[in-house]
Amino acid sequence: MLCQAICQAAEVAGHLWQKGWAERNGGNLTLNITEYADGDMRSLPALEPPRPIGTELPYLKGCYFYCKGTNRRMRDLARHPMENGAIIRITEDAAHYEIIADAVVLPTSELPAHLSVHNYLIGKGSSYKASLHTHPTELVAMSHHRPFLEKDVLTQLLWSMIPETRAFCPRGLGIVPYMLPGSIELAETTIRTLDEGYDVVLWEKHGVFAIGENITEAFDMVDTLVKSAQIYQDARSMGFEPEGMSGLQMRQLADAFGLPK
Ligand code: 13P
Ligand code: ZN
Repeated sequence: MLCQAICQAAEVAGHLWQKGWAERNGGNLTLNITEYADGDMRSLPALEPPRPIGTELPYLKGCYFYCKGTNRRMRDLARHPMENGAIIRITEDAAHYEIIADAVVLPTSELPAHLSVHNYLIGKGSSYKASLHTHPTELVAMSHHRPFLEKDVLTQLLWSMIPETRAFCPRGLGIVPYMLPGSIELAETTIRTLDEGYDVVLWEKHGVFAIGENITEAFDMVDTLVKSAQIYQDARSMGFEPEGMSGLQMRQLADAFGLPK
């Protein structure tokens, strides 16, 4: 149900704040709630004239989304999701959105990335409904080290820190080079990287972007990756390079649990 999905987003927003990944207004989330759009919701009038998305997203025509508001705090959204987020409807030209509830709260500045990703997900027939962007300190720190930005270097390192990360973030961590926050270029590169088979990508020197069936699933994958990053950094701060699980151990795990890659 719609209330449940939004309550789940509020719960995750609280986790993001508690984890220290959501300084000030840091991070954002969106939910595709079209499946809950009943007659009442569909007949809600726009609260103001349509605004441009900045790109055309044909699969989103007539879709409904819950979005965090721009400049709104996760810690506030956790307590008051409808005062710090909004429900929007994509217009018939698939290039604009209108805010329909509860009040005129402008959606997140990363709306181009979130909506482009939802458009991509619908286009490929995915059942994923949630996208999450957040600023996990350890992962952002690791993105400042050039060798970690080579394809799948961080995936292998983080997978090797603890079996759970290999099991519960089984598609690894894609890398998106630094780009202007909120830009169409960042949105398009995020899609290209997700399309390589990842469910989570690292935005260099900024944060992560994760997708899932629901917002809790997206959060859990980021949480698992961060756990590994913490183990790595704890080992380094104790003065040694962690050994990591061996390639054989990780292959055995993948075989035992039927994991992808
Ligand atoms: P918003 O407050 O616009 O959602 O921006 C936060 C953010 O993390 C931008 O990347
Ligand atoms: Zn951000």
